[in-house]
Amino acid sequence: MKKIAVLTSGGDAPGLNACIRAIVRVAHYHGIEVTGIRRGYKGLIDKEFCPLNPRAVGGIINKGGTILHSSREPRFKDYKYRKLAYENLKSEGIDTLFVLGGNGSFEAANLLAKEFPINVVGVPKTIDNDLYGTDYTIGFDTAVNNAVDAVDKIRDTTMSHERIFVVEVMGRESGFIALDVGIATGADVTLIPEYPFPLHLVIEKLVESRKRGKTFSIIILAEGVASAKELASILEEKVKPYALGGIRYSVLGHIQRGGSPTAFDRIIASQFGAFAVEKFVKGEKNFMVSYEKGEIKTKPITVSFGKIKKPSLDVFELSKKLTI
Ligand code: F6P
Repeated sequence: MKKIAVLTSGGDAPGLNACIRAIVRVAHYHGIEVTGIRRGYKGLIDKEFCPLNPRAVGGIINKGGTILHSSREPRFKDYKYRKLAYENLKSEGIDTLFVLGGNGSFEAANLLAKEFPINVVGVPKTIDNDLYGTDYTIGFDTAVNNAVDAVDKIRDTTMSHERIFVVEVMGRESGFIALDVGIATGADVTLIPEYPFPLHLVIEKLVESRKRGKTFSIIILAEGVASAKELASILEEKVKPYALGGIRYSVLGHIQRGGSPTAFDRIIASQFGAFAVEKFVKGEKNFMVSYEKGEIKTKPITVSFGKIKKPSLDVFELSKKLTI
């Protein structure tokens, strides 16, 4: 019987469990055994393996996080540990490793495939949606919805107190989350690293909107631009007279990464996982799953390396046009 292994690596993302479930069940359909590896590459090195049968993945489709746990493992940069990882897989009769991860996790998988007779399959996940080579990564939709829920609440109190509120959202160096959250919450200003918006224009916009009679403002700030604390203190100096109830800020943080995945994330994660197994069964090797223009396809895993994926400039321009 053929045997594959699956691990989740890097920051967790809602929808990972749905993806693991799909991999296990579609593999079972094809008579393939699945071994789960706990704690990502750490568990691959330390041989934290566990059998995953179709029942073991029951009741998890609606759960956030990952039942396999995740980690960021620096030892994998060292050849000695990659060799150990390979030997662990080999001793279990496994020649294909499914990696549910982002950029760093795919690069690590690719190294393993270059150095040893191991096939790797990358399934894209990260709430940041910043992986090159795919329009979508598992977890993004839930993270955006989590942030939108939070900002809707912040809006109520901001409005009551006629304040200016800076909300910092995740995304590392990218602005996908911020841009979608900005549009969905009707933010006055959305700041993302890819398309800089000078500070004097932010100030101008806030002041102008006050002069036109607006009584409160929300700024969505991608963490890759600045910290909410920094921006709030600059605004405190420059626009305080225009903010009746003062200026406040909030860092949404890991709330964005948790909770039950949206229906979209459950479905796309199931499709990604199932598709990856089907392609493996057909003999495809060393590929990543990619979602492009509404279609799921495969690409060489190396496609995602060294390139920057940017949010659409049109969407950014729209976010500006929609606020007055
Ligand atoms: O990459 C996902 C992400 O949530 C980023 O948006 C954020 O910058 C980072 O991970 C936080 O990492 P950690 O969970 O290690 O604090």
